[in-house]
Amino acid sequence: MSEIPRGVAPSILSANFARLGDDVQLLLDAGARTIHFDVMDGHFVPPITIGADVAKAIAPAVHAAGAILDVHLMVERPERHVEAFVEAGADRILCQVEATPNIAFAVKAIREAGRSPGVVINPGTPVEAVTDLVDDVDVVLCMTVNPGWGGQRFLPGSPAKIARLKALVGDRAVIEVDGGVDAGTVGACARAGAEIFVAGSAIYGAADPVAAFREISEAALYG
Ligand code: DX5
Ligand code: ZN
Repeated sequence: MSEIPRGVAPSILSANFARLGDDVQLLLDAGARTIHFDVMDGHFVPPITIGADVAKAIAPAVHAAGAILDVHLMVERPERHVEAFVEAGADRILCQVEATPNIAFAVKAIREAGRSPGVVINPGTPVEAVTDLVDDVDVVLCMTVNPGWGGQRFLPGSPAKIARLKALVGDRAVIEVDGGVDAGTVGACARAGAEIFVAGSAIYGAADPVAAFREISEAALYG
């Protein structure tokens, strides 16, 4: 799985959508190799955000930089949307295990489309939920807030949960974390076994997003 980029993944949920291309390019130029893209449907989570047409609009710049587009589907029945995001240029598609009884089907559809599958567990979902999926995915994402909004506080029990997940997953998949990640919380995630760190408001909400990206990246390595 050496092709999976590790490190900090800026979440464009906290970007300025009126100048989304510029906000994405800023972080690609700073060295980000994963751009995290949050899709919400107003059902699985209360808000509605952005969909495949917006993914398609930013995918060329992401790929031109040698980076990947990491699509996090916070939608009911994610298997119904796999094809649209594949066509839009998604590289990794992450499905919430809580969102469908057909999670294995969704994972298979992503793999068969030639893209990288991942599964996501909410804070209330035990790590054992991925036991029978881990051999079929590249990434397991552990939510460190309840999904739905940027800017929430990192749940303090998260590092212990990440460690339990790492014990279960081993080297069979890469662990990603998402929610409340900043320079103060990323180190504990890394020490617990996470290797991909989604950060939204801590980057795009900062006065200097590039400096914030660098600071969080350093804290992931040394913090
Ligand atoms: C939340 C989303 C996150 C969000 C994280 O439901 O899945 O990706 O952008 O935002 P921060 O980093 O501000 O917690
Ligand atoms: Zn996300």
